[in-house]
Amino acid sequence: MRELKFYTGNAVPLEMHKVRVVQKLNLLPIDDRLKAIKEAGNNTFLLRNKDTFLDMLTDSGVNAMSDLQLSAMMVADDSYAGSATFSKLENKLEEIFGTKYVLPAHQGRACEHIISRVFVKKGDIVPTNYHFTTTKAHICLQGGTVLEIHYPEALIVESNNPFKGNMSPELLKKAIAEYGVERISFVRLEAGTNLIGGQPFSLANLKEIYNICKQHNLLLVLDASLLADNLYFIKVREPAYQNVDIRKIAREIADQADIIYFSARKLGHARGGGICTSNHELYMKMRELVPLFEGFLTYGGMSVREMEAITVGLDETMDYDMISQGPLFIEYMVNELKQRGVPVVTPAGGLGCHLNAMEFVSHIPQSEYPAGALGAALFIAGGIRGMERGTLSEDREADGSEHYSNMELLRLAVPRRVFTLSQIKYAIDRIVWLYDNRKLIGGLKFVEEPKVLRFFMGKLAPVSDWQEKLVAKFKADFGDSL
Ligand code: F0G
Repeated sequence: MRELKFYTGNAVPLEMHKVRVVQKLNLLPIDDRLKAIKEAGNNTFLLRNKDTFLDMLTDSGVNAMSDLQLSAMMVADDSYAGSATFSKLENKLEEIFGTKYVLPAHQGRACEHIISRVFVKKGDIVPTNYHFTTTKAHICLQGGTVLEIHYPEALIVESNNPFKGNMSPELLKKAIAEYGVERISFVRLEAGTNLIGGQPFSLANLKEIYNICKQHNLLLVLDASLLADNLYFIKVREPAYQNVDIRKIAREIADQADIIYFSARKLGHARGGGICTSNHELYMKMRELVPLFEGFLTYGGMSVREMEAITVGLDETMDYDMISQGPLFIEYMVNELKQRGVPVVTPAGGLGCHLNAMEFVSHIPQSEYPAGALGAALFIAGGIRGMERGTLSEDREADGSEHYSNMELLRLAVPRRVFTLSQIKYAIDRIVWLYDNRKLIGGLKFVEEPKVLRFFMGKLAPVSDWQEKLVAKFKADFGDSL
């Protein structure tokens, strides 16, 4: 790994690519931003992209694609069955993970659907280092329960722990003793743990957990959607792997899993998903659901063009220059905000920069969705679209009560190789302004609340006229600036 030094000091993350296709952006005046967020029911998922300046909602399906990916899309083999494009994808996954079988699916949650249907029975437990929204929904739909097994550090927002995504082996053993192997569908490890701020696990931890699984004949299922970030963090944070090639690290990770699934909207920088395994029996159990829910076994709901792009994208993920771009930009953003006193998740993770709403707007109770309110406020302040990752992203308990989230985060995703450093600096500027004016931000309440995954389509209203007051303060401070 080569480190880049700057002669004049002031090191900044350096783009190891050049931009050759661009998309025009709109930065609306603040009154129009207020109107847009109101029309969206204060839910950033419901904003129109044409009203958004920096779309930091997600990195899902919106990472920049390379010239080689785009050109590969032009030579796809478009056949329903036996597509040569699928064979290329299969071969690439075998080359990287060493797995024999691939089941294609249209995206990550489709893989979760299939895995949960096959392995989760009513009353089952699924231990995980931390759940993801769609994973939990599919496990619960089958009558299972997710059991979060992590170290206390996972939930400490500001920490120096390099591997907050680790699973606690002691707690896993305790859970096995308590529930019994029969009730455990599988153990799920998520690379680059999404909901706690894109935090990685270490390879040493993965190996320890896999050993425990093998001792008890339990399956280990790896969610590799955010594997690219996790690979980077193993390389730079785990001393034993500093001189190990990314491909070798990837293979070592894959060797510790019975089933690997991924969203190719993240891993591979295109749009699709897949399940990989070398175990024929497991493959056969899952295989029958693919034609039923996804499509024939050689496309699984994906377009052949996307499969070509995923194949190239997976190969490019084995390049340190490619996988370092996201984490380096995120680290820059986190450090700049931290220096100015803004509460953020540390250490900087993958996926994005996460604002700690519990502290940022500590005057807003969890019942009024502090991270959702902060998301609406940041859109008003800068046309920046983040994603609530807190109580709003949890569904209610069966008795209708709120399930208060462990953390209230506003995630500002940094899709890989999409934003320039000046755009990141603009975001930092508007966040710092908002932090200095945080007392003006108020809470939200539901006006339309779906029962399942309510954060996607739910509509909310501010609890007072705080948004108009925020706009007035912006105009007082910025005059007629956008
Ligand atoms: N697992 C993880 C860790 C994810 O981050 C996601 C998606 C999925 C599974 C589901 O994959 O979207 O292709 O169906 N995360 C997106 C996000 C939605 O914005 O973080 P999918």
